[in-house]
Amino acid sequence: MPLLAVETSCDETSAAVVHQGRVLSNVVSSQISLHAEYGGVVPELAAREHLRNLIPVARAALREASVEAGQLDAVAATRGPGLPNALLVGFKAAQAAAFVLGRPFLGLHHHQAHLYSPWLRGQPPVADFSRFQPNLSLIVSGGHTLLVHVRAELDHHVLGSTLDDAAGECFDKTGKMIGLPYPAGPEIDRLAEAGNPKAYDFPRPMIDDPNHDFSFSGLKTSVRYFLRDHPGLLDDAQRLRDLCASVQAAIVDVLVTKTIRAAKRLRVGCVTASGGVTCNRALRQRLTAACERERLTLLLAEKNFCTDNAAMIGILAERKLMRRAEPTTLDADILPNWALG
Ligand code: KG4
Ligand code: ZN
Repeated sequence: MPLLAVETSCDETSAAVVHQGRVLSNVVSSQISLHAEYGGVVPELAAREHLRNLIPVARAALREASVEAGQLDAVAATRGPGLPNALLVGFKAAQAAAFVLGRPFLGLHHHQAHLYSPWLRGQPPVADFSRFQPNLSLIVSGGHTLLVHVRAELDHHVLGSTLDDAAGECFDKTGKMIGLPYPAGPEIDRLAEAGNPKAYDFPRPMIDDPNHDFSFSGLKTSVRYFLRDHPGLLDDAQRLRDLCASVQAAIVDVLVTKTIRAAKRLRVGCVTASGGVTCNRALRQRLTAACERERLTLLLAEKNFCTDNAAMIGILAERKLMRRAEPTTLDADILPNWALG
């Protein structure tokens, strides 16, 4: 029987229907253009937009999957972490749907769901998970940068995370300084393609630290000083492209070096990556090359499943139900600061 999943933790309203490892539908309504003029996500606006979009998005997901609400076997939603008001909209709506349908409800951890994004492939069913475990997972987005040791299914341990800005935040804040629209990550990626990544030397924070944590705020600050010391650089199109390529190279260097080092230290055979920044072409190329060199299997989330989506929530819910996880009670609350164990 199919399952309906809902994700509203930040600025994407998403609903998906999954069935036995297959993603029957995954509808995502992005609010990017709404928040662009403010240079970042405005929580109050995000929540109101979820309110407006959730029912049409859920209807579209059911229609696309050719599933009637009455045929659903269970309902799941993101419980945290995320923006409180944004989470509330999707979580409470999904709880109410489960209540009306008399079906089990699962409130799930957003990052635990990201661990499943590399397996999402649309129509073919999710591949055999156990073949790829244990693995080392990089989750890298606008809000988070995490290295997770997945020992076995639903058994994971966070090795490290960012001490300040997330990698995507570093892309976005750097982009803002150089006049790019929010979110700047995709635009930096595009401009960097014709730039020289060795043109300017930016710091690689914590790259040699033996721990698995990250820090990106110093890199952002060094770009600020660099711009102060190079007035007029932004008026030169090629130097702007070189700047984007150089900043991107610094971020990617840190992510790839620390991911590979952790994978080798833990002696896992597989690396996976998901989250919005995993769309970055330089990161995909560098991770691919590094994993080939180290003979590690790499599972990169497909680009449409890198960013936030409900399909990953649905697949996690199915896996939990298969393992007879307890449903979440219908009076349970959201957990905006829920840390992944
Ligand atoms: O996972 P996501 O959609 O939302 C959360 O933050 O949870 O990730 C969005 C982030 C933004 O910071 C955006 O700039 C970044 O992912 N991003 C990219 C690229 N595409 C999206 N960063 C670098 N290169 C890209 N191609
Ligand atoms: Zn996310």
